[in-house]
Amino acid sequence: MNGEASFPPGFQFGVATSAYQVEGHIENDWAEWERMGRLKEPKARCGIGVDHWNRFEEDLKLTQDLGAGAFRLSLEWARIEPERGRFDEEAIARYRRRLERMREVGIRPVVTLHHFTHPRWFHRETPWHERSCLESFRRYARACAGILRGLDPLVITFNEPTVLLLGGYVMGLIPPGISDGAKAASALVNLMRCHLLAREELLSAGKAELGISQNVLAFAPDRAWHPLDRALTHFASRSYNHAFIDALTSGKLRISMPGVVGARADLPEVRGSLDFIGVNYYTRAHLRFLPKRPFVQVRYRDVHQRGLTHIGWEDYPEGFCDMLLEMKRYGLPVWITENGIDDRSGERRPSYLYSHWRQLLQAQRQGVDLRGYLYWSLLDNFEWLEGWGPRFGLYRVDFDTLERRPTPACAYFRRTALSRELLAPQEEASPEPGMAS
Ligand code: FCB
Repeated sequence: MNGEASFPPGFQFGVATSAYQVEGHIENDWAEWERMGRLKEPKARCGIGVDHWNRFEEDLKLTQDLGAGAFRLSLEWARIEPERGRFDEEAIARYRRRLERMREVGIRPVVTLHHFTHPRWFHRETPWHERSCLESFRRYARACAGILRGLDPLVITFNEPTVLLLGGYVMGLIPPGISDGAKAASALVNLMRCHLLAREELLSAGKAELGISQNVLAFAPDRAWHPLDRALTHFASRSYNHAFIDALTSGKLRISMPGVVGARADLPEVRGSLDFIGVNYYTRAHLRFLPKRPFVQVRYRDVHQRGLTHIGWEDYPEGFCDMLLEMKRYGLPVWITENGIDDRSGERRPSYLYSHWRQLLQAQRQGVDLRGYLYWSLLDNFEWLEGWGPRFGLYRVDFDTLERRPTPACAYFRRTALSRELLAPQEEASPEPGMAS
């Protein structure tokens, strides 16, 4: 062994994307939200994205060049079922061909069924807080099961359900833009039921492993001495990081964020419906109690003077290990389904990878059953409310010409994925021979 440590046998390196953020040419609830001027920059539009819809082969090649063995993408419901009950066979066939291509080149598909976006009809006709969503999601999941048949994918039914609900049903910042605790609680229970329905549909079509992607934040009290900041930290960690996974493993949903949201339900049917836990980790959040609504302030502090990342988040690799250790209690395999940095020059990304991989290996040595690491993201892309500012991509995309160019982290990623050993990044300013440019 030459490196500091080796990744476990069978451990997969890969990259993550989501349809709306890269494909382009999609008409869904987010496109509507943009036209309503609801992004930070009200005139920003996703539009043609980074045209991944038409450049899939090129992007697959870029993925192979990274030495990756897994590729996470999402299926866009609005493409598959643009009108309620009308399924677009052409879009379905195109997704199917892409996933087959991935298998042909030895890349395992990691497929998200729901990554924040919905067809435009969804919130009007069968929203998450009404029971009718169950039938809609089941039908959509059946179509997805057809697309995935025989490919033995890793399937993420929902990406960050907690973020979807907090953003869409509590804070009203993302579609459907509701701020209603009772509706949020019904939606939450329905999302879990939908997860189960999707599981039934997928498994009846063949072999697949199913999970969700959970956004986890390493919470800390803003004022370490303040009892209310500490109480908030405790509630947030339980409700934000764990409630969803807890419910899907134990059948008991318990959420309590005083003044913000609360829910309690027994759902024995969803118990044991995860084959793995998907972890999306980016940062630590310091919580401060406010004496008036919304009662909580979230702060990103540069505690170790590493410099906040460009999006304004703390670079806190230590929290990665802590969060992974917290997942040990579920006794399930863990996939890192997202981790990455908004680094607009691309210079900082290799050391970000190194520091986070170190923490991951530490968690593994302490008994976390880690199966893979998917970097967010393959390409620079459209970052939701932030629009086109952030750059998370291993490949830099020129947003005018759509040309993709490797950032220095590509060579480092490839070297690690192929050697499976952790080595500190060297000066890797120029791409290795054989890297696409
Ligand atoms: C996650 C989202 C993903 C991307 C990253 C930066 O919360 O799942 O789509 O926006 O953040």
